[in-house]
Amino acid sequence: MQLQDILYSQGFGTRRVCAGLIQKGHVTVMGELCTDAAADFEEVGLGFTAQGVAWPYQERAYLLLNKPAGTECSQKPSTWPSVYTLLPSPLRTRPQKASVQGVQCVGRLDQDTTGMLLMTDDGQFIHKMNSPRRHVPKVYEVTTKHPVDQKQIDRLLSGVVLDDDPKPVLAAACVATSELSLQLTLTEGKYHQVKRMLAAVGNRVEGLHRSRIGGMTLPADLLPGQWRWLSADDLALLQP
Ligand code: URA
Repeated sequence: MQLQDILYSQGFGTRRVCAGLIQKGHVTVMGELCTDAAADFEEVGLGFTAQGVAWPYQERAYLLLNKPAGTECSQKPSTWPSVYTLLPSPLRTRPQKASVQGVQCVGRLDQDTTGMLLMTDDGQFIHKMNSPRRHVPKVYEVTTKHPVDQKQIDRLLSGVVLDDDPKPVLAAACVATSELSLQLTLTEGKYHQVKRMLAAVGNRVEGLHRSRIGGMTLPADLLPGQWRWLSADDLALLQP
């Protein structure tokens, strides 16, 4: 693929802008300066640097963000900064593929929820991970306002009715982890689901953290606000 097309595919601007970056000497490929915008490279496995940003070529972008509290998953947030501000801008400006422009959140977390947030420009992956039929388990660490008792746990496991939905929703697993905390596993993702489920059993969420999706746990070395690319092994773990 021509170098200008490689940069374009990774979100570094229009083909013209990318050609300009290359011709002005702002791009190195595998450590070597390249000023020929039409130079051909095998893109798979290619590493390049554009304007000082080191970039591994990725046909599709899959990443994991440790979402900090006080951030919104919307691209146009109403009150809090958007999680998109935590990512380098090429990830937001990758050219449209199917109906997806740039990376998108794979399901949303509330502004005060922390932890695992997947982002990608692969529309099929988003659909697969969000589909209730796939039953991808998502594990939440919940801090509660009131003590957790067995009756609440039994109700969360057997199903609670949320205001707008006559069909009960239930937790796939639920264990108390202390007097004021529990670990809840859900396989669907309705709006404010954990908060509404806890409210339905007479408790209240004081803190919410997503610690696991599918078979992947949030890596301890990925600090709040940090992101990293997902490897092929990570992707295999995420999808049951
Ligand atoms: N359930 C909620 O209530 N909030 C989240 O952010 C995620 C799940």
